[in-house]
Amino acid sequence: MKKINKIVLAYSGGLDTSVAIKWLKEKYNAEIITYSADVGQIGIVDWSQVEEKAFKTGASKVYIDDVQEEFIKDYVFKSLKANALYEGKYPLATALSRPLIVKKMVEIAHQHGAEAVAHGCTGKGNDQVRFDVSFRALDPELEIIAPLREWEFKTRNEEIDYAKENNIPVKATKDSPYSLDSNLWGLSIECGVLEDPWNEPPADAYQWTKAPEKTPDEPLYLTISFEQGEPVKINNKYLSPVKLVKKLNQIGSEYGVGRIDMVENRLVGIKSREIYEAPAAEILTKAHQQLEDLTLDRETSHYKRIIAEKYAELVYYGLWYSPLRSALDAFIEETQKQVSGEVKLKLYKGQCTVVGRKSPYSLYQFDLATYDEEDSFDHQAAAGFIKLWGLPTQIHTRVKQQNKDTIFLKELIK
Ligand code: ARG
Repeated sequence: MKKINKIVLAYSGGLDTSVAIKWLKEKYNAEIITYSADVGQIGIVDWSQVEEKAFKTGASKVYIDDVQEEFIKDYVFKSLKANALYEGKYPLATALSRPLIVKKMVEIAHQHGAEAVAHGCTGKGNDQVRFDVSFRALDPELEIIAPLREWEFKTRNEEIDYAKENNIPVKATKDSPYSLDSNLWGLSIECGVLEDPWNEPPADAYQWTKAPEKTPDEPLYLTISFEQGEPVKINNKYLSPVKLVKKLNQIGSEYGVGRIDMVENRLVGIKSREIYEAPAAEILTKAHQQLEDLTLDRETSHYKRIIAEKYAELVYYGLWYSPLRSALDAFIEETQKQVSGEVKLKLYKGQCTVVGRKSPYSLYQFDLATYDEEDSFDHQAAAGFIKLWGLPTQIHTRVKQQNKDTIFLKELIK
């Protein structure tokens, strides 16, 4: 095995990855470079503390990288244009952040001539797959180390003991009973009492959104404008992609919008119960879907639903850097050329409903749709169309009837 001199570690500032700094350094006698991406996660108020902790724990170089804009523009909005929801529900917040983090880590590894990269994922989740597969896609030569899959600590307490022995700062505050991962596109919550799918999530499981019963008694209306499939304005005011998503998270949370409770199929073969909070994702996905309903022709619209499902699977399965994902993006981009216009939404007690939509590219033609006197639809043409449309099934039934006796005999012989 070749000697590993430098390792780039994905660092969250938490216990696992802090212990990983020390553990990797000792085991490989290597220099540890940490990489932390600011994707708008909650709970980190001060990145300088993360930086300080990494240095204190033994990192030789520390990267703190604000990638929020790139995350939204190049990952989240692509997924939004696809209307990607894993198993029809999960907007993929965690899954979308991984390929970006990996891309940045590979760049740093190359810059420093590091032989290995490392991450703090456990051995039973989806994230290890996303990290490993993306690393291999971007640089097959890099060694991948996953300390949590390898190390000797059996319990969290053993890890804490190791941390204390090695002067790694351990938070005095009690840890959340849940496992959390968050970014601008949503918050993923697992573990604790949620592991019984029958248990209703306790109030403290939700970190962002207000309980619907505690939200305002009056509904809130808002308008979102899209240009070629991307949201650009709220209530007629232009906002940068990051600001727009942040604002919708904040508004949506106030109205209890974006809570998802599901049992999902993990890639590693197990089912898991997951809670998500994704106010902006829910608002924008609903708005985008409805604008497409107005502006895409029927066949493209139906075909795109199949693509949405496939796209979500690719993202969830860690295949962001696959040729199929780029090919699908090219298709999706082509469909978005006329997805521009406005969508009016109503937020009320945890619900987000589209109540209006308009677009200069609207394919909705009033004179064709109306039942009033302006109606210009050719009713006579319908009769001939229906006759031919139903012809194959009509013939099928006739032939079946003609062969009734033979079919009956065959049944008797059996
Ligand atoms: N089940 C989700 C996914 O695979 C979320 C995983 C989040 N991780 C966490 N530590 N809570 O994308």
